[in-house]
Amino acid sequence: MSIKQKIDISKLPEHVAIIMDGNGRWAKGKGKFRIFGHQNGVSAVKEATEACAEIGVKYLTLYAFSTENWSRPPIEVKALMELLVSTIKKETKVLMKNNIKLAAIGNIDDLPEKCRKELASAINETKDNTRMTLILALSYSSKWDMIEATKKIAEKAKSGEIKIEDINDKTIDEHLSTKNFPNPELMIRTSGEHRISNFLLWELAYSELYFTEKLWPDFNQEDLFLAIIDYQKRERRFGKTSEQITN
Ligand code: IPE
Ligand code: IPE
Ligand code: MG
Repeated sequence: MSIKQKIDISKLPEHVAIIMDGNGRWAKGKGKFRIFGHQNGVSAVKEATEACAEIGVKYLTLYAFSTENWSRPPIEVKALMELLVSTIKKETKVLMKNNIKLAAIGNIDDLPEKCRKELASAINETKDNTRMTLILALSYSSKWDMIEATKKIAEKAKSGEIKIEDINDKTIDEHLSTKNFPNPELMIRTSGEHRISNFLLWELAYSELYFTEKLWPDFNQEDLFLAIIDYQKRERRFGKTSEQITN
């Protein structure tokens, strides 16, 4: 029985989110520059995307560049932006072939113009695809998203469009950049780091978290399937007791 066959298709997460970490250490381990790790991370992006689409996951969010990543050495930031442009350019036809829709969350206005253009064109070209949505988190941080949402809600409260006493969970959901997507049931982080790094703080409130020592460029389809199998063994209680869940 292959690892893939061990997945219970009736219990798939609808949305998987991944913090793709460890590119720099992967390259360093090979005596190469950090950017070599980022370049090799692209094949892992393809593996994860195809694995998710193949088994029937509907949304995959990949944390590709955080608000905090702007503080990296300018040469690394520049290389990452160039890699983003060339990858989107090259992979749009694969997304079309696999019927995958591209979306983005984050402060897209902060990206270099070339990135914005390439991204907008790929999002537009893939907009009618229906098999899965691949969401890239770019210049994204959850605190940034929450601040933006707060500003929008405050504006509406000021103009009378929203009553303060009516603000609830749903109000916040509807003003975040993730408003069109369900919350991830499963969040994976590679590279052995056990932290959230400002990723989807609101949306991960009840997600199952899965950490693996694998560095991102080494992460393959089987690793993705193993994470899903692990997720399927867990009991999601949402504050209730185990007895309430099983009865
Ligand atoms: C993740 O790998 C990619 C990005 C954050 C863009 P890192 O570049 O963080 O690799 P490590 O953590 O330094 O090994
Ligand atoms: C998180 O990775 C951001 C992305 C994967 C894009 P980092 O490598 O930047 O995270 P920290 O700063 O080590 O927590
Ligand atoms: Mg890192």
